[in-house]
Amino acid sequence: MGKGLFITFEGADGCGKSTQMNLLARYLKDNGHEVVLTREPGAKGLGEKVREILLNYDGEVSDRCESFLFLADRAQNIDIIINPAVEEGKIVLCDRHIDSTVAYQGRGRGLDIERIKMLNDLAVNGRKPDLTFVFDIDVETSMKRVGKDKDRMESAGIEFQNRVRKGYLELAKQEPERIKVIDASKSIEEIHLSVVKLINSVL
Ligand code: TYD
Repeated sequence: MGKGLFITFEGADGCGKSTQMNLLARYLKDNGHEVVLTREPGAKGLGEKVREILLNYDGEVSDRCESFLFLADRAQNIDIIINPAVEEGKIVLCDRHIDSTVAYQGRGRGLDIERIKMLNDLAVNGRKPDLTFVFDIDVETSMKRVGKDKDRMESAGIEFQNRVRKGYLELAKQEPERIKVIDASKSIEEIHLSVVKLINSVL
């Protein structure tokens, strides 16, 4: 049995991280690894219902309520999907995780970052990503990629997205060992090569 790994993909909306996650999954499978894909919000099962509320509910949602919904989905993802797979020696790739809550609810919405980190700790119950990619891109380019059909979070505005981006870069400075910033303005193939290089350093 191989060593289990937990890897997260982060970045502002439209940064291309989901494409890169799928490319990496294929690369790892081709190299004989067992790979599990998951995402937040929207861990399989109950998480899909939480995702529906978070992205599509059109009534008022308080910032604290929003945070707790993301955290509830996270706890479920950790307990039901991530921990069992890592313990079986699989490689788990997760589209968004703890750093999203710091960047979006902390920097973006303006909630206290230390408190968000504390709540994240409760939600993950000791499990931390072994490696995190932050796909960094300027907000105008990423918003063009998202297009007109925006969900509730994507509709929060350019200033919000700029704060989110800054939030990620601050986190990467605080935890340079875990968080690797990748220039997401490059071509899909170039970005994939950078991701593979970093992955091979932890495999
Ligand atoms: P999603 O469609 O998954 O966006 P993307 O494809 O860009 O990942 O929507 C997730 C949205 O939820 C995204 O705008 C980021 C936001 N989010 C938070 O605000 N806090 C969180 O803790 C998480 C996990 C996501």
